[in-house]
Amino acid sequence: MSNLYDNPKYYEIVFSFRDIPGEVDVFEECFKHFSLIPVKSVLELGCGNSPHMEELVKRGYQYNGLDLSKAMLEYSRQKALRIGAKVNLIHGNMIDFSLDAVVDFVYITLGSLYVRNTSELMKHFDSVSAVLKKGGLYLLDWCIQFTLSSDKETWEIEKERIKVNTTVSGKDINPIEQTFEETIAIEVNDHGKHHIITEKNVKRAIYPQEFLCLVRSLKDFEFVGWWNNWDLSQLLEQATKIDRPITLIRRI
Ligand SMILES: C[S@@+](CC[C@H](N)C(=O)[O-])C[C@H]1O[C@@H](n2cnc3c(N)ncnc32)[C@H](O)[C@@H]1O
Repeated sequence: MSNLYDNPKYYEIVFSFRDIPGEVDVFEECFKHFSLIPVKSVLELGCGNSPHMEELVKRGYQYNGLDLSKAMLEYSRQKALRIGAKVNLIHGNMIDFSLDAVVDFVYITLGSLYVRNTSELMKHFDSVSAVLKKGGLYLLDWCIQFTLSSDKETWEIEKERIKVNTTVSGKDINPIEQTFEETIAIEVNDHGKHHIITEKNVKRAIYPQEFLCLVRSLKDFEFVGWWNNWDLSQLLEQATKIDRPITLIRRI
């Protein structure tokens, strides 16, 4: 079978452990406390199956999603049709992209910052800068290597008699280039039919202090803060175990 991002239905089950309305509440808390502009439009980078789309549209936001996978975009398009939402789904590469209109908020979830080297990382921030209004926020969920890439995580979820066992692991490739290979491997039991699907990607690690230096060096962004567990009352500096940290920067 092809890779995970060509299988949106299984992908959706794998990451269905999230409290999506709760995460949209956190977006809105960020807007309230840290955005310098009113937020009406949002852009999700690496939107995949667009898990937050329905909740965002329900709350009145104009949703834009960008992804490289046509299968994922089609899945999101079908979802938007089902809920009767008017959204903008774009086939594009988060490293270098543009939009027809600027947006008020940009976000990226589950460590999906797919850049392989420093040059791609800089291009990515240039692209985000060009599409985000001044005073607007960019929220990154994970994306920074607060823990080592070799950590391994496994979990199992069953939905509608489809059982999926997932393992996410990382293997260092080049310590000087800060590259590692991330593998998401799933074992599926779909009503008795078994599949093994693997998604492998090379990523450039971004370390916390490096991220702060990087943001300081950018003329068009400032650091706002970082928190643990999608919870603005949990400062990352005080965390004993880091899990699903979010980072906020602002366009200046
Ligand atoms: C882990 S999924 C995240 C999907 C969704 N945002 C979520 O919260 O579940 C990562 C997504 O990033 C997309 N992706 C990978 N590389 C990309 C790139 N260079 N540009 C745009 N999207 C990319 C994949 O196709 C996939 O849909």
